[in-house]
Amino acid sequence: MATIGIMDSGSGGLSVLREILRLLPADRFLYFSDNANCPYGEKSAEFILGRCREIVGGFLAQGADAIVIACNTATAAAIAELRREWPDVPFIGMEPAVKPAALGTRSGVIGVLATAGTLKASKYLDTRDTYAGDVKVVERVGRGFVELVENLQLEGPETEAVVAASLEPLLRAGADTVVLGCTHYPFLLPVLQKLAGPSVRFIDPAPAAARQLVRMLDAHNIAHSGPADPSLRDITIKSSGQSETARRLLSVI
Ligand code: DGL
Repeated sequence: MATIGIMDSGSGGLSVLREILRLLPADRFLYFSDNANCPYGEKSAEFILGRCREIVGGFLAQGADAIVIACNTATAAAIAELRREWPDVPFIGMEPAVKPAALGTRSGVIGVLATAGTLKASKYLDTRDTYAGDVKVVERVGRGFVELVENLQLEGPETEAVVAASLEPLLRAGADTVVLGCTHYPFLLPVLQKLAGPSVRFIDPAPAAARQLVRMLDAHNIAHSGPADPSLRDITIKSSGQSETARRLLSVI
């Protein structure tokens, strides 16, 4: 059995854990929600790197075999340095899914919803410039989305109004494919899809991250469960603030 550390600024990384559990249902998972410092979106890369260092150190002290930075903002700010500091540890980060979106669009316009930190990071800008080609990319910060998820306001008129304010500019620009570039946003997918209608496709990069984790475990010869009885779930949640949100969301993933 592998021990996997998974971190996010809050509960968004549970959307990644959900996909990991489909592939590794019976491994040992240590989840850390840094919700006392959430959101990361507008914080400096230096601050985020400091938080990642501390959280990763905690995972390794508990025997983690691999670490998933289940946060696009923290991946952009810190993963390169974390890999330099712990060269033997497999780190899996969140990749902005511009490539599949650009390949799949029929309208020639894709939208990207992410935090301000992700949208200005060179990791995102390089990916966009490499894969967008002739496709037009329209970007928006999902203003207030992280707070909605942390407050467990996943539906209702107020949530729809907040989500619509960031989504509508993408739809008006003709986007038929929208990348969810923050791990909190998949929890708002029912609202996003309702507002956008069935012809718009949303891409959640979590399944690709989960597949990458399995590939990395295999490449490092780290034994893992593979298909097994899901009732064997072994998940420990810790947080720097209150733990209610992560526990409630864990019960629905
Ligand atoms: N879930 C995060 C991400 O994927 C961070 C959101 C935030 O804390 O601003 O970017």
